[in-house]
Amino acid sequence: MKSIVILISGRGSNMEAILGSALPLEIRAVISNRPGAKGLETAAKLGIRAIGMDHTAYESREAFDEALAKQIDEFKPDYVILAGFMRVLSEPFIKRFAKRIINIHPSLLPAFPGLHTHQAAIDAGVKIHGATVHFVTPKLDHGPIISQAAVRVTQDDTADSLAARVLAAEHQLYPQVLRWLAEGRVDLKSSGVVQITGLNVRSERRAQLLLVPME
Ligand code: GRF
Repeated sequence: MKSIVILISGRGSNMEAILGSALPLEIRAVISNRPGAKGLETAAKLGIRAIGMDHTAYESREAFDEALAKQIDEFKPDYVILAGFMRVLSEPFIKRFAKRIINIHPSLLPAFPGLHTHQAAIDAGVKIHGATVHFVTPKLDHGPIISQAAVRVTQDDTADSLAARVLAAEHQLYPQVLRWLAEGRVDLKSSGVVQITGLNVRSERRAQLLLVPME
């Protein structure tokens, strides 16, 4: 069975969605760079090893990343899953776990990388917004896209109402991607494009419709 370590920084609702999905994955630990993160409590209650590593106690980003990498290595996970981990990771860290770090970003990348994506989507007047699960590469929010979830933007949306709609989609999207990962079906091509093996036309449609409700 494949194994993961999940990195969080706060609330941990994506982590909770992952933990609650009965995935065929071994979840070896949850680590937060903020020791007070609510998600750590949730993970511990569910019997998962929960570790706080305060990044402010380290003298540099590199020093923290090195310590974090060592901690992760102790668990020997196949994948490192970023679920609301709100720190930029340094290049040595990303290279060390190349093709093994996965992130969820609250926009339809390549649109709106960075922070404040929901307000940016409203300001740009887009009619469809959403979330992306992708492999992490040194260029922030630019790695190979594994899957996306789309939601409608309504005319009276605020950043908060849109964030809530996207978050609900994230909670479906991330477990679905991790299930594909657990099943060994996420194929990162040398071109940088990801394909999911074994999706026939029906299951591909279902996977997408699940994420784009066309009411
Ligand atoms: C999510 O919107 C995720 O896409 C972004 O940060 C937020 C984390 O929320 N990277 P949570 O901690 O999973 O509740």
